[in-house]
Amino acid sequence: MLNSFRRLAFYALALAACNSELTLADEPIHIKFSHVVAENTPKGQGALLFKSLVEERLAGKVQVEVYPNSSLYGDADELEALRNNQVQLLAPSLAKFEQYTKQLQVFDLPFLFDDIGAVNRFQKRAKGRQLLRSMEDHNIVGLAYWHNGMKQLSANRTLILPSDASGLNFRIQPSAVLEAQFAKLGATTQKLPFSETFRALQSGHVQGAENPWSNIHSQKLHEVQPYISETNHGVLDYMLVSNPRFWYSIPHQIRTQLESIIDEVTFAVNKQAEADNQRDRQRIIESGQSKVISLTPEQRQAWREAMRPVWQQFEGVIGEDIIKAAEIVNRKKRS
Ligand code: SIN
Repeated sequence: MLNSFRRLAFYALALAACNSELTLADEPIHIKFSHVVAENTPKGQGALLFKSLVEERLAGKVQVEVYPNSSLYGDADELEALRNNQVQLLAPSLAKFEQYTKQLQVFDLPFLFDDIGAVNRFQKRAKGRQLLRSMEDHNIVGLAYWHNGMKQLSANRTLILPSDASGLNFRIQPSAVLEAQFAKLGATTQKLPFSETFRALQSGHVQGAENPWSNIHSQKLHEVQPYISETNHGVLDYMLVSNPRFWYSIPHQIRTQLESIIDEVTFAVNKQAEADNQRDRQRIIESGQSKVISLTPEQRQAWREAMRPVWQQFEGVIGEDIIKAAEIVNRKKRS
């Protein structure tokens, strides 16, 4: 209670200070939007659409610079830069917030969501919305969820049954859940920034990885991974985040317009992401550089059974209520 009161008082002071600065100087507000993926991906397109709508509707009031492909900050330093207001918007994948909240690890649990539609329903419900505010004590506020899509497993050998992954070293995002997921397969893991993934796979330092089709294609990972199994075993989505001190210091009217632009961009990104992933899946198949392996329902069930024990392992840290709320968004009854 006292903490919430202090936080409100703090934001009110920051808001007053920044509002007066903004009015006095009459300068446009600068927003740097940094991300780690290519421009022709769901997140890359979302960042560009945000910039163009802001330029159209808030010309002279807000300026947006977009830095794709880890060109300003990468996985290792972007969240710290946001907390220090050196960058004002990011959209890290949900696995990258582990240091600030354990609750978001729900999104990393393997085979929790049947498809991206289920992920969408969870993000719109009360529990999903609550998670947007779960990092405010760390100076991070969530503004929206953006989809990328379901992850596929790639490797330098065919992965048809879970035992095929045993002994391989997989590149993962910095998430204890993902580490445990691969441990269940008898595989080891290496936490590496996204920008280092291609080189690590090319050199053989790691032999496998997991990502949605759009990231695999745009980073050319299929050129160094001869096999991709269509597992759809987990989700890779984003949270659009800002620094609350910066965000709540934006004059109310402008902030409201920015928030409505974000709603519009979110709708566009989330509507388009699945189509982009299917387009890139097709491009990978047509390139002939990597063999895309479709699993039978029985083979996929074997992966599910091998990875599913990770849920129990993380129930305590994530929260049983959050996992349940996520599980019930699936339409089908499962074993
Ligand atoms: C991203 O899509 O932002 C990066 C995902 C990854 O690190 O694998």
